[in-house]
Amino acid sequence: SEYQKGIKHLWENGINRVPKKYILPPCDRPNTEDGVLNHVSEQNLKLPIIDFAELMQGANRSQVLESLANACEQYGFFQLVNHGIPSDVISSMIDVCSRFFELPFEERSKYMSSDMHAPVRYGTSFNQKKDSVFCWRDFLKLMCHPLSDVLPHWPSSPMDLRKLAATYAKETKSLFLMLMEAIVESLGLVGTADEQKKTEEEEEEEEEDILKDFQDGSQLMVANCYPPCPEPNLTLGMPPHSDYGFLTLLLQDEVEGLQIQFQEKWVTVQPIANSFVVNVGDHLEIFSNGKYKSVLHRVSVNPMKPRISVASLHSLPFKSMVRPSPKLINEANPRRFKDTDFATFLDYISSSEPKRKNFLDSRK
Ligand code: SIN
Ligand code: FE2
Repeated sequence: SEYQKGIKHLWENGINRVPKKYILPPCDRPNTEDGVLNHVSEQNLKLPIIDFAELMQGANRSQVLESLANACEQYGFFQLVNHGIPSDVISSMIDVCSRFFELPFEERSKYMSSDMHAPVRYGTSFNQKKDSVFCWRDFLKLMCHPLSDVLPHWPSSPMDLRKLAATYAKETKSLFLMLMEAIVESLGLVGTADEQKKTEEEEEEEEEDILKDFQDGSQLMVANCYPPCPEPNLTLGMPPHSDYGFLTLLLQDEVEGLQIQFQEKWVTVQPIANSFVVNVGDHLEIFSNGKYKSVLHRVSVNPMKPRISVASLHSLPFKSMVRPSPKLINEANPRRFKDTDFATFLDYISSSEPKRKNFLDSRK
């Protein structure tokens, strides 16, 4: 049907009402007052801010690690500033993604595919094969690993997309690796050998292992395009969901839209220029044995302004098992999740409702 062509296409043909296909039932609408879970806080949320340069410099590292741990436990989200990725790499990425979505529909639609494992996939809504109500979003998904294999499949138009997106992918990957080192340390998994169980050598091996595995880990970039919406209270850009990986590094332009669940309310995250919104994914929640939280979030749409965002999702290699770190399981903290393989997890996600936190909960 016409909706499968995406919201950008529909919008380009001119709409002044939200079509039925996009109208959420009243209880799921962004501003409804019924139901605590849909209550929207008046105030924008000031997420914890982590200064990456301070984290790396050393002098204040232990203090910053503590803030990082608190952010991951209490919010599942933080804003990362001073991350060292040049601002032109960031602005070029937003810019080239905007230009991709400006291409004629015929050009964009070349990349439409229902294959979840395709190296490039253009689509609309959240899961357009399944969603009964569509959301107000088009996306371009780029697999990023191994980069030299996938790059030739990425869109050839705009001409500079491959080059700019590859640079951006490499920069975010290396930032992710450094962040994971800090996350592992913030979980107390470095140098806190439980000597009764293991020799120091074995401890170090195990801790390095997961960090080594990430080098060859999966990376998926998702560029999102949310056209202005004439009746923003009737629909959403993305429904409530959690992210599957270890960490998501989200870049958003200056238009707000991201809302996260915090203390039973939906709160809007205030964009900060040149920063990343970083969030804990399901795999990190499992790895941390529930200490760090993968939190539900969604996207609201704007009546006037188009919005662009780019999410970079990072995890282990696709063939890996995801399991709680043995060092975070003990009598006081029993194991909360079963081991699961990444592939099963992804299959589950693609076949289920977006509110898949239930999957995690059922594993406790
Ligand atoms: C966005 O803020 O546009 C994207 C959020 C997400 O990827 O969940
Ligand atoms: Fe997300």
